[in-house]
Amino acid sequence: MPLTLRTPQLEDFEALAAWIPDAESCRRWAGPRLAYPFLAADLPTRLVQPDGELLCLAEGNGSPVAFGQYWVIEEGAVHLGRIIVAPEARGRGIGRELCRQLMNRAITTTGASSVTLRVVRQNTVAAALYESLGFVPATEDPGSEVILMRRPARP
Ligand SMILES: CC(C)(COP(=O)(O)OP(=O)(O)OC[C@H]1O[C@@H](n2cnc3c(N)ncnc32)[C@H](O)[C@@H]1OP(=O)(O)O)[C@@H](O)C(=O)NCCC(=O)NCCS
Repeated sequence: MPLTLRTPQLEDFEALAAWIPDAESCRRWAGPRLAYPFLAADLPTRLVQPDGELLCLAEGNGSPVAFGQYWVIEEGAVHLGRIIVAPEARGRGIGRELCRQLMNRAITTTGASSVTLRVVRQNTVAAALYESLGFVPATEDPGSEVILMRRPARP
């Protein structure tokens, strides 16, 4: 069965919470606004953004292997965030598939002409993935710990 996006249920958020082992992982994944530790049941309300969706990638109703979300960040631009693959499933192309499906969904739903995301500079695995998908740094501030990246919706 192919991996497809679906709306996460409470048990999916419990699986997701188990993928975040410590405060540093939490900061890299979700940024500074989600304090660690957190309750899985609180994630839907803590993560939700207006004009967006929180989604997981799974085989049908099976256990999720990845999560991500998108929201309209400014007129014409949709932002991807909270991208994560289950630790045991990393390095097998699932992060790339998640980003591909999430971008398609975000662009189709919002009609955005560009896609943005943020990555912690030291997160070289995530940065390499985003660069290979056509994202380039949108701001040139070498002192900043977090890089804003952008690509056209339809390159
Ligand atoms: C970043 C993350 C989503 C990547 O998911 P993944 O399923 O492991 O990635 P993929 O297998 O699809 O690999 C995609 C690309 O990522 C890069 N990559 C993956 N694993 C890598 C590794 N161990 N070392 C260096 N680059 C790596 C490569 O560019 C790879 O492309 P390639 O296979 O053509 O070389 C995953 O590592 C993760 O969940 N990390 C923790 C949460 C996080 O940091 N999220 C990002 C927040 S901005």
